[in-house]
Amino acid sequence: MTEAAGRLSACRRIVVFTGAGVSAESGIPTFRGEGGIWEKYDPDVFGNIPGLGQVWLTQPQRLLDFITDALDTFLAAQPNAAHLVIGKAEAAGRIRAVVTQNVDDLHERGGTRTVFKLHGDLYTLRCLRCGRSGPLDRGRMERIRDQLDGMRSGRLAILKKLWEIMPRCGECEGLTRPDVVFFGESLPANVLRQAEEETRSCDAFLIVGTSGVVYPAALLPKLARSRGALVVEVNREASPYTEMSDFSFFGPAGSIVPELIPESPRPA
Ligand code: OAD
Repeated sequence: MTEAAGRLSACRRIVVFTGAGVSAESGIPTFRGEGGIWEKYDPDVFGNIPGLGQVWLTQPQRLLDFITDALDTFLAAQPNAAHLVIGKAEAAGRIRAVVTQNVDDLHERGGTRTVFKLHGDLYTLRCLRCGRSGPLDRGRMERIRDQLDGMRSGRLAILKKLWEIMPRCGECEGLTRPDVVFFGESLPANVLRQAEEETRSCDAFLIVGTSGVVYPAALLPKLARSRGALVVEVNREASPYTEMSDFSFFGPAGSIVPELIPESPRPA
């Protein structure tokens, strides 16, 4: 650990690449593995818009559970020690950017200003009719959550209520969807391009909490490696990146990341 922290302390263009594992200690479950989201909700159904539409019509109670779970989880989550130390290191000029696959806002709330969100943003809504985007602020999320509590049982009643609470576009009243990337959808091209540019020019690439199985995001560590960057991995267990990393640490990000990039870096 000391050697890796020392090598990182000499770097001034660190890119941090994060996945669900960085937010696990904030109470947001990861996707894969025990207790993961995809264990409870089938990704073939809940991971794409047509699948969600089908659940809405055929099993509205299941969709209600999914939305309730998501709102409870995201409303309760607070940045953890890993998010906070990354934010401080960016402010100190050591980190260039965070490239994340997460749709939460914990990096931003942890103080990081440059965050490239490859898989979109849960706090932005996109109109299905006119295509305009608008914010889904916490107050609106809380109001939706409150309405779900008062929901009567019965398939038709739930169907009707879900229709009523779905957020509408502020411009054209069209139905909106969260501006996140579902399976089969393209990543936002400009975000991917900027993430690639930062990766190409970084001197260190710190991987935190990702299984590295979802493409094209999974290619970024290989790009950093090919450009000669120092590659450091923090995960719960070995990943496809372990072999190519200069250092790998297995354990909770909230403990390991602050040791790797302490607030007062050791002299190189
Ligand atoms: P995964 O759920 O696939 O992987 C989570 C990773 O975090 C694993 O490598 C764990 O070892 C690690 N991990 C778990 N808890 C941790 C902790 N406390 N500290 C450090 N590491 C921990 O999540 P992602 O790799 O982010 O895509 O998944 C990638 C994409 O798959 C997601 O963005 C999402 C999903 O389908 C879309 O929605 C398009």
